[in-house]
Amino acid sequence: MHSINTDELKKRFIVIEGIDGAGTTTQMNLLAGSLRARGLSCVTTAEPTTSPIGMLIRSVLSGKNEAAPSTVAHLFAADRNEHLYGKEGIAQKVEEGALVISDRYVLSSLAYQGVTCGPEIPWQLNSRFPAPGLTLLFEVDPEVCIKRIDTRSNKEIYETLEFQKRVHDMYAVMADRLEQQGWHIERINADGDIETVRQRIEAVVFAFLGVPSCGITGSASRLHS
Ligand code: TYD
Repeated sequence: MHSINTDELKKRFIVIEGIDGAGTTTQMNLLAGSLRARGLSCVTTAEPTTSPIGMLIRSVLSGKNEAAPSTVAHLFAADRNEHLYGKEGIAQKVEEGALVISDRYVLSSLAYQGVTCGPEIPWQLNSRFPAPGLTLLFEVDPEVCIKRIDTRSNKEIYETLEFQKRVHDMYAVMADRLEQQGWHIERINADGDIETVRQRIEAVVFAFLGVPSCGITGSASRLHS
């Protein structure tokens, strides 16, 4: 297992969070592009990962396989453990000097599995994972998000308005709880056009990194791609 330097994580590990259709993937890629354009190297990654555990999770989310909600919570935690500590994982990349941005992390499990299992199982399963330096929580009306994802062809089991509303509310509760544990969480109004939201994110992230003066080195690859 790769050891973890929590001080380095605090400087160079950023997470983006939000309900389905909030635009996390699009904005993560735009942010990585802006940072690279300013000479910073960063690695983008996502959970669930493309590892075998991540693929098993996908098969449950697609409805192809069934599993008890608490089993799914354990699978997400196992996938995260590998993502963090496995070969070429987040810990290793951060140690090599890269800035790592992840589309989802602990807060996703607290919000989604908080709804499916109740808050305590995901809280316990995730309590050992270190805090990122910065978590961006995208806030968008679930009605807007569901309209965005309605145009997608492959629906997942969580993609209903009723469920997303509950996840949205659980995100708010769990973000407060993590802040009480010392997590740095910034809420982003992500209910606007892509360019406006991009600028809001950059303002927060550049301030966090001290861009353009911070010196980040490392590869510009995608983990588990
Ligand atoms: P998502 O980011 O929507 O992936 P994609 O855009 O590639 O489909 O993630 C898939 C789903 O997994 C999403 O509904 C959120 C859910 N999820 C959890 O329920 N718990 C978790 O811990 C994580 C990381 C994701």
